[in-house]
Amino acid sequence: MAELVLGCVLDFVADPFEVPPDAAARLHGGVLIEGGRIAALGAAADLRRAHPEAAVTDLGSALILPGFVDAHMHYPQTGMIASWGKRLIDWLETYTFPEEMKFGDAAYARQQADLTLGLALANGTTTLASFCTIHPQSVDALFEAAEARGMAVVAGKTCMDRNAPDGLRDDPRSAYDDSARLLRRWHGRGRALYAITPRFSPTSSPEQLAALGALWAEYPDCLMQTHLSEQVDEVAWVRDLYPDARDYLDTYEAQGLLGARGLYGHAIHLDPRERDRLREVGAGLVHCPTSNTFIGSGLFDMGARIAEGQRVGLATDTGGGSSFSMLRVMAAAYEIGQLTGTPLHPAQLLWLATTGSARLLHCEDRIGTMGIGTVADLVALDLGATPAIAQRSARAQDIWEAVFPTVMMGDDRATAGVWVEGRRAI
Ligand code: GUN
Ligand code: ZN
Repeated sequence: MAELVLGCVLDFVADPFEVPPDAAARLHGGVLIEGGRIAALGAAADLRRAHPEAAVTDLGSALILPGFVDAHMHYPQTGMIASWGKRLIDWLETYTFPEEMKFGDAAYARQQADLTLGLALANGTTTLASFCTIHPQSVDALFEAAEARGMAVVAGKTCMDRNAPDGLRDDPRSAYDDSARLLRRWHGRGRALYAITPRFSPTSSPEQLAALGALWAEYPDCLMQTHLSEQVDEVAWVRDLYPDARDYLDTYEAQGLLGARGLYGHAIHLDPRERDRLREVGAGLVHCPTSNTFIGSGLFDMGARIAEGQRVGLATDTGGGSSFSMLRVMAAAYEIGQLTGTPLHPAQLLWLATTGSARLLHCEDRIGTMGIGTVADLVALDLGATPAIAQRSARAQDIWEAVFPTVMMGDDRATAGVWVEGRRAI
């Protein structure tokens, strides 16, 4: 049965970093969902007339967008989000690793997977790319939970064979074998996509990185996700651990772990050679602004990265990031943009959280846009969800001024509806 959703539908037809915001976006009065896909966009009256059989959901002035795409997060860290007072390495050792240890218990993994997907949807996020833990059952748990909800999720077994506690280490062979088995089970099953997942160079031996590089060469249409140059202490540690590497990126590049389907979380403290290589291969840089401020990592220079032609997406990085809300992430990206001399336009922020992140996952033909025939993963935002937001948006002269208060001050209270593959989820 077709559903006609009426509101203020925002459809990006171009990249707002390349053309002015008003040329990048089109506004429509409604969207027709049929068979789980976007079937038509247009004026409300025209759509009603052309599709009298469709059930009508009238959301008034709500903004209807592609569902948010969170391009880097850690579902196993939901239980320790907002843990106080540490920086990256001692934060991992103090809070993260003890929590990840619990995912050897498949029932706990299933509980946290379902909890996390529920929180994501409540915040309007319909796709996420998540690290799991070292335990293969943590990967099954997330993909099963996503399948039950019809969600397109990217995930992979987090591989670590050194600098991690007992019980959280694999080895090059088992990392390869477990990842290969999971990849064959899940990649392309329904909406699932597998990402080969070395956590980061400090917790993998060169042999483990080489094994995962070989696996990626065997399955090049898989994604690969990791962390890169998040904190200066970490970069110095990588230099000690890999004395022959030209730089941090080279620890991945030398083992076949640099490519267009690679997702590099944070990527803050980059050398010129690293920036050149990332751009040349069209790798995905994932900006995690709420995490970068929370763990004290540094300021990602979005203006410079876009100007030099990098592909960039946005992510929560929960539990390093302290919110499941991509609105909070956009607000933090705006603030960091101000600190680095680039005030990001609301169109650019919304594009990064939808099309931009979908492009990093190589899914922009299906999600992150409102193109006809794409999957109807949608979010509707109430642009006056709190009194403070409502009084400001009431004065707006155009759509961008109406939406910016929600970008800056909004959270899950702004979620007025969520559709996953055309089915109402919230
Ligand atoms: N670097 C390696 N592991 C992690 C992690 O779990 N979170 C963050 N923010 N950075 C990392
Ligand atoms: Zn991360």
